Amino acid sequence: MQEPILSIRGLTKTYKNGPRALDSVDLDIRRGEIFALLGPNGAGKTTLIGAVCGLVRPTGGTIHAFGHDLSRDWRSARARIGLVPQELSTDMFETVRRAVTYSQGLFGKPRDPARIDEILRSLSLWDKRDSQIRALSGGMKRRVLIAKALAHDPELLFLDEPTAGVDVELRKDMWQQIAALKERGVTIILTTHYIEEAEEMADRVGIIRGGRILMVDEKRAMMERLGTTEAVIDLAAPLSDIPPAIAAFPVETSTDGLRLIYRGGNGQGGGRAQVAQLTQALTRAGIGYTSIDIHDSSLEDIFVGLLGEKEAA
Ligand SMILES: Nc1ncnc2c1ncn2[C@@H]1O[C@H](COP(=O)(O)OP(=O)(O)O)[C@@H](O)[C@H]1O
Ligand SMILES: [Mg+2]
Repeated sequence: MQEPILSIRGLTKTYKNGPRALDSVDLDIRRGEIFALLGPNGAGKTTLIGAVCGLVRPTGGTIHAFGHDLSRDWRSARARIGLVPQELSTDMFETVRRAVTYSQGLFGKPRDPARIDEILRSLSLWDKRDSQIRALSGGMKRRVLIAKALAHDPELLFLDEPTAGVDVELRKDMWQQIAALKERGVTIILTTHYIEEAEEMADRVGIIRGGRILMVDEKRAMMERLGTTEAVIDLAAPLSDIPPAIAAFPVETSTDGLRLIYRGGNGQGGGRAQVAQLTQALTRAGIGYTSIDIHDSSLEDIFVGLLGEKEAA
């Protein structure tokens, strides 16, 4: 397998007088993928990004990017990394073009005004190129942050909560921009506490909580492996007792006996196959039904279930 573009081992961060924000994190990022780091507020997402981008000094562990050990050889690796921060920290009185031009030079890259123009156009910032940043809408300010992060043509791009607080339309637009970057070969790590965002964008998902990575997997595999199927079956007549042939399935009845609720089946559509068997068993048992509503769990259900489980442990 190809060497990971980013390789993190045993990464720990304890803030002064603060909590352990990262607790022995191991993570490998593959070249060209979109990786979503999904976790609630305070999970350690921004700290993790900060450690890779040189904004947070790790308490322990190692980070290799592009084969360079960041603790020894930071600058050459950092020049190939872009960061779209969670918070807007840009000089508000600067114009868009000047701010982006400044970012281009930060890591020793020669000036390339044509490239700046291209970036501004691709992010629909061209008309605003001479506006002061403070005069822009929230959505436009976010685009400026992306333009600044792209100005030195990074191969690895971090987006820290790229769509927190933006409206639905801009979120969709942002997702398109991110997909376009991936098409161009940029490796993307985004953090989010929106499950929908991970479900929509990511090739792989890492779930983080309390500074620990709970799980990393292909998004599809995660959904298949941990996903469950729920089927609500409306019965033609109330059922007082569940016959043994039906009780063999993971089912329960509603209190009025008019509904049979199935929950089960992990992975590979197993739940749906079992629901089909269940309906055959109902027919054999002479139990009539009027409708079936089947629903497969989403990443959201998995996420909530996983965090709940850890909470209880
Ligand atoms: N500069 C800091 N000093 C002290 N504690 C911090 C600092 N930055 C973050 N923390 C704490 O570290 C934990 C992780 O924070 P953070 O990485 O920002 O999480 P996330 O980005 O997932 O919301 C939180 O408990 C937060 O309060
Ligand atoms: Mg954060």
